[in-house]
Amino acid sequence: MSTIPEEKGLDHSYHLLQEGFPFIQNRVEKFNSNIFKTRVMLQNVVCLHGEEGAKVFYDFDKFMRFGAIPGRIQKSLMGENAIQTMDGDAHRHRKAMFMSLMTPHSLHSLNRLLLDQWQAFSQKWEQLEEVVLFEESQELLCRVACAWTGVPVNESEVRYWAQDFTAMVDAFGAVGPRHWRGRRARRRTEKWVEQVVKDIRKGKIIVSNQSPAHVIAFHRDLEDELLDPRMAAIELINLLRPMVAIAWYITFGAVALHEHPVARQKIAEGEENYLEWFVQEVRRYYPFGPFLGNRVKNDFSWGGHDFQKGTLVLLDMYGALHDPQIWEHPDQFYPYRFRDWKGSAYDFIPQGGGDHFTGHRCAGEWVTIEAMKVSMLYLSKYLEYDVPPQDLSFSLHRMPTYPKSKFIMRQVRGRQVAQ
Ligand code: HEM
Repeated sequence: MSTIPEEKGLDHSYHLLQEGFPFIQNRVEKFNSNIFKTRVMLQNVVCLHGEEGAKVFYDFDKFMRFGAIPGRIQKSLMGENAIQTMDGDAHRHRKAMFMSLMTPHSLHSLNRLLLDQWQAFSQKWEQLEEVVLFEESQELLCRVACAWTGVPVNESEVRYWAQDFTAMVDAFGAVGPRHWRGRRARRRTEKWVEQVVKDIRKGKIIVSNQSPAHVIAFHRDLEDELLDPRMAAIELINLLRPMVAIAWYITFGAVALHEHPVARQKIAEGEENYLEWFVQEVRRYYPFGPFLGNRVKNDFSWGGHDFQKGTLVLLDMYGALHDPQIWEHPDQFYPYRFRDWKGSAYDFIPQGGGDHFTGHRCAGEWVTIEAMKVSMLYLSKYLEYDVPPQDLSFSLHRMPTYPKSKFIMRQVRGRQVAQ
C-alpha cells in the first residue's frame, strides 16, 4: 500500500522541460513530502529528495543502473553501455580502474598542467581585446585533459575537439538541434579516440604505462579480456569530456569572484581553507545536474511506499543543494557555510553521493575540486581583468545552464606565478 502523494495527469515530461532544474523541488514543496509519484517519459516515476532518500538511492541491494539511463543520453552525453550503466561486480571492477587513476601523484601532475595552461592562456589573452571565458576555458581544459590522459592531439584540432566535448555535455537536457549536435560530436570523438586506443595497443603511439590512456587501453574485464576498442574509447572519453565540463564551474566561479570581491581578496591573500570552501560553494550554489536515475532491482518498502521491481526512481540533486533544511539561506552564496559542514556523503551531492569506489559517485570529483582550486586561485591572484557590463544571469530552465554572456573579460593582465 502506498501512502505517498501522487501527481495526477498522463505525463509531465513537458513540465520537466519547462521547469528545468527545480522540477522535483517544486513538487517536494507542493506536496510537502520528500517522496512522491509522478509520470515522466511516459512511465511511472518515484522521486526522492533529501539525505535519507539519497541513502536509500545508493543502496545497491535495492537499486540498479541497468535500464535507468535513457538511450538518448547514452548516445550523446556518456556513451552506450559505459560505466554509468553498469552494476554489481562488473561495475566495481571498472570503477576500481577509474579510481586507480586518481592518486595524489596524478592529481599533482594535473595541477602542474593546469597552471602551465593558465599561464599560456593569460599571455595569449593579454594580446586580445576581449576574452570569452566559457569558451576559452573549454579549450584550456581540453589541452590539459589530453595531456593528463596521454591522448595526443594535433594543435590545429584542439579547439575543434573542445567544442565536441562541450557539445556532448550541452546536449544532456536538450531536445532538437542541441541534442543532435551532441550525438554527432560523440560519433566523431569515439572514432578519433578508438583509433588512439588501437594505436596505443599496437605501440604506434607511445604513452607512459601509468597514463590513463594506457591504463584504459590495456584494462582487462572480469573475463580477463581487453575492452572492445570502441568501449575503451568511450571510457577514455569519460575522462576527457567531463574534464572539459569543468569549464561550466570555472565560468560560474568567475561570476562568483566578480560578484563577491571580498571572497576574491580572501583567496588571493590565502586565508586558510577559504579556497576550498569557495570551490565547494560554487559546486553547491550553481546548477549543473538536475537529478539522477535508478531502477528498482527487487521489490521493497520504504518511506510509505512499496517500490516495485523495474520502477524508475529519480534522486533530486539540484533541490538537495538548495534545501533550507540542509543549507541555511540556500539562495545566498556563502562559502563559510562549509566551515561547519559535517561532510556527509549524502547531503552535498553535486557529483552524486555515496562512495566513490563502490558506488556510482563521480570518479572525477577530486579532479574537479583540484582543477577548480587552481583556476579560482589563478583568477584571483594572478590575473587582472575588467568585466564590462554584460548579462551574467542564468536560466534554470535550460539544462545544463551557464551565464548568458559566458563571462567576458577585457584588458587582461597576467602576473607570473612563483614556481
Ligand atoms: C559520474 C557529475 C567531472 C568522471 C558522475 C555523476 C555525476 C557527475 C552527477 C553520476 C553520479 C552518480 O551516478 O551517482 C560531474 C560534474 C563534473 C564532473 C558536475 C564537473 C563539472 C568529472 C571529471 C571526471 C568525471 C573531471 C573524470 C576525470 C566521471 C565518471 C563517472 C562520473 C567516470 C561514472 C562513475 C560511475 O558510474 O561509477 N559525474 N562530474 N567526472 N563522473 Fe563526473
